[in-house]
Amino acid sequence: MPVIRALSKVAKQALLAPACGCQPLTVAIRNISFSPRQVTSASDASFHSVSFSETDHPKVLITGGLGQLGVGLAKLLRKRFGKNNVILSDIRKPPSNVFHSGPFIYSDILDYKNLREIVVNNRITWLVHYSALLSAVGEANVALARAVNITGLHNILDIAAEHGLRLFVPSTIGAFGPTSPRNPTPDLCVQRPRTIYGVSKVHAELMGEYYHHRYGLDFRCLRYPGIISADSQPGGGTTDYAVQIFHDAVKTGKFECNLKPDTRLPMMYIDDCLRATLEVMEAPLETLSMRTYNINAMSFTPEELANEVQKQLPDLQVSYEIDSVRQAIADSWPMNFDDTNARNDWGWKHDYDLPELVQTMLNYIGSESRIAQAN
Ligand SMILES: NC(=O)c1ccc[n+]([C@@H]2O[C@H](COP(=O)([O-])OP(=O)(O)OC[C@H]3O[C@@H](n4cnc5c(N)ncnc54)[C@H](O)[C@@H]3O)[C@@H](O)[C@H]2O)c1
Repeated sequence: MPVIRALSKVAKQALLAPACGCQPLTVAIRNISFSPRQVTSASDASFHSVSFSETDHPKVLITGGLGQLGVGLAKLLRKRFGKNNVILSDIRKPPSNVFHSGPFIYSDILDYKNLREIVVNNRITWLVHYSALLSAVGEANVALARAVNITGLHNILDIAAEHGLRLFVPSTIGAFGPTSPRNPTPDLCVQRPRTIYGVSKVHAELMGEYYHHRYGLDFRCLRYPGIISADSQPGGGTTDYAVQIFHDAVKTGKFECNLKPDTRLPMMYIDDCLRATLEVMEAPLETLSMRTYNINAMSFTPEELANEVQKQLPDLQVSYEIDSVRQAIADSWPMNFDDTNARNDWGWKHDYDLPELVQTMLNYIGSESRIAQAN
């Protein structure tokens, strides 16, 4: 086992090195075993990768795939690359329609060996890392958020580097904080978020970019705005109100908003978000001048959204019962995103503005509710 002996020696030297850091650490290892933490260069990373030419279809694994975004992304990617080339995974039991719509597998991102087995056995070439605890849920369980969003990410980065995968990790408007410029927020500026969610996402951006420069990892990251979808429920974020209003408007005609009426946040319809994800994953290397991009579509307040919904459902009654935790989070986030770099580099363009968003959501939820009533 000469490799392990050599690594043990390097690790020992690193541990014994003076705190000044004069002896640079040359391997990405947290423990010594035969693991991706041994990857030492870009060429090592590609040595482990399966042969994958641009003409082949990628073989995609989506982690945390049963949340608000994963099922929709799997549908889009399966349409493009074939049903069996996209594997959804999560730690939860899938509903039967999801289970029967294509490959599904159990994967806990905290279990490194399980991840490696899936990647190897299925010859995965692209990894879309959606597992996370979102902002409001993260504040309610900081220890778990730290484990899933930070320790889990380390496993993902190591797996991706070891097997030469193209890796997508979403970031968020929550990666900015009260000292960031808020209207608009550019790609590069001060990032001092005040939530564990935001801190973990800044960590993910920086670690992904570090692995890109250090090991040649093909890391790609988009900062999503709040995402609005009709057929999947949000997972405990601060922008959830902008989904709930549609359900309540159709079902009860009343909506109680947990943010103040003038709280402005960037938002996006799910179809735009998923298409952006596919487009940045397919973008030729030479078009990417950065590894982490803002993407933007629209920006509105609860009051503006309610007014737009009331154009279609004039009887909707809206009241405000402020949730202080969510309000404090929202007040520290961008009001508007500057996504000029995404538009210039790889041609990002959104399709949905506020009126189209409201019409689409009401059509979808309205028809679902009519079907439910008929049954
Ligand atoms: N939805 C949004 O508005 C939004 C906005 C910005 C960024 N994002 C990012 O997009 C990604 C997907 O978001 P979402 O809204 O679908 O999230 P979600 O909360 O709806 O789903 C996250 C999924 O992760 C899974 N998960 C939790 N712990 C896990 C573990 N140990 N191993 C494997 N899976 C685990 C959960 O079971 C859940 O299905 C997240 O990384 C999120 O930060 C989402």
